[in-house]
Amino acid sequence: MDTARKTKKIAIVGTGYVGMACAIGFAEFGHSIVGFDIMRERVEQLQRGITPYREAGISESLGRHLRNERIEFVTDFGTAVRGADVIIIAVGTPARPDGSADISAVHNVVGWLRELDLHGATVVLRSTVPPGTSEWVADQLRSRAHVVFAPEFLREGSAVHDFLNPDRIVVGAETQTAAARYVDLFAHLGKPVLVMSLRNAELAKGMSNAFLAMKISFANEVANLCDDLGANALDVLDAVGYDRRIGRMFLQPGIGFGGPCFEKDLKSLIYISKNANAKSELLSATLSVNDRQPQRVVSALVEEMGGSLEGTRIGVWGLAFKAGTDDVRDSLAVRIVTELAERGAEVVAYDPAIDGTSVSLPCTHAKTALEAAEADALLVLTEWPEFCSIDPWALAHRLREKIVVDGRNVLDIDAMTAAGIRYRGVGRRSTPEAVELAAAG
Ligand code: UDX
Repeated sequence: MDTARKTKKIAIVGTGYVGMACAIGFAEFGHSIVGFDIMRERVEQLQRGITPYREAGISESLGRHLRNERIEFVTDFGTAVRGADVIIIAVGTPARPDGSADISAVHNVVGWLRELDLHGATVVLRSTVPPGTSEWVADQLRSRAHVVFAPEFLREGSAVHDFLNPDRIVVGAETQTAAARYVDLFAHLGKPVLVMSLRNAELAKGMSNAFLAMKISFANEVANLCDDLGANALDVLDAVGYDRRIGRMFLQPGIGFGGPCFEKDLKSLIYISKNANAKSELLSATLSVNDRQPQRVVSALVEEMGGSLEGTRIGVWGLAFKAGTDDVRDSLAVRIVTELAERGAEVVAYDPAIDGTSVSLPCTHAKTALEAAEADALLVLTEWPEFCSIDPWALAHRLREKIVVDGRNVLDIDAMTAAGIRYRGVGRRSTPEAVELAAAG
């Protein structure tokens, strides 16, 4: 840390992946961190260096900062925030059944803060919240603290990396002074800074996620059309994405987007639009394309298996909602596994991050990818890199019907075909003639 920068005491309320990325990221910047969570067990584990979720490098970073005493975790809220220059609120805001965001955890934290002397600290709301929430927080804490809303754009599995390498720093505030208190923490990164009203920053967060989700649904719709027309979606989407106005990222077709953010944020925006009497046709279409997408993959498998899965054994590669995490929250892989079981298949799954002790699914768990492939057919549902390095011949040898439905388009179609496998991706497939030719040659 350059010596001109002052070490701040930063309290972090909530130790999910956003809170933890902030804790480790700010510790990397040289600040002194106190983490708090209402889950006593989690705090005790964090004190011992055990992280609540999986992410490359995070255990090592946490261990290092516990040893150098830049990070500590406490179970008492007052101890965490007392004397803090900056208080970060990173608590969960889950979806209610009607799609609205449940912000009761934010309300609780603000209630506790109102009981304490904050000495003009900067309170930074980082939880994703509906427009208007930060204004309410600012009203509640007026004259005690400076309140800002700083949306996070962190991805699970690379949250610390994303924290340290942001594309931009977005901050919502009522005054430039309040904004500067937050922005100064990132000044040394030299990234673009966007200061705006609290409400605009809240909407910027929601709309960023909505746009990313919309890109994925667009890619899935293109892939489905390519399937129907006998075209290759990867070629089509490559050609589209290389236009710099569009960009190639988040154009990978697959089983649909899962995880705790996109669906929840879309539903919340749709709910908010409805209340404001505004139309949200694109947001609704993004969700409905995504809802249908897992079915495309199941239908492809059923078709390849001759119309029924009753009495079959289906191998599954991947359960996590994406590679690099062990999170199965709103994972579409889980939805697909459940549907396969309901259709009478015996499912054997392999995921390098999930051994079956932490999740209860209607499947057995294999210890290796090839063990899961001792089946009639194989479905690929998470894009773990290790799946790409499996020898196609070893795979073909184990698969009784030599059918692979690759819901993530990660396997090499030519190598699969050459090994005699009938391969179907999302928006691309090997033809039966090509498989026969390859097997004969
Ligand atoms: C997302 C946003 O990216 C992040 O900015 C925000 O802060 C939280 O929500 P996350 O949910 O962790 O992050 O994962 P992300 O990498 O965005 O993937 C979400 C889902 O979309 C995964 O299921 C992923 O497999 C899927 N996806 C992603 C696709 O199907 N195709 C793509 O091209 C990209």
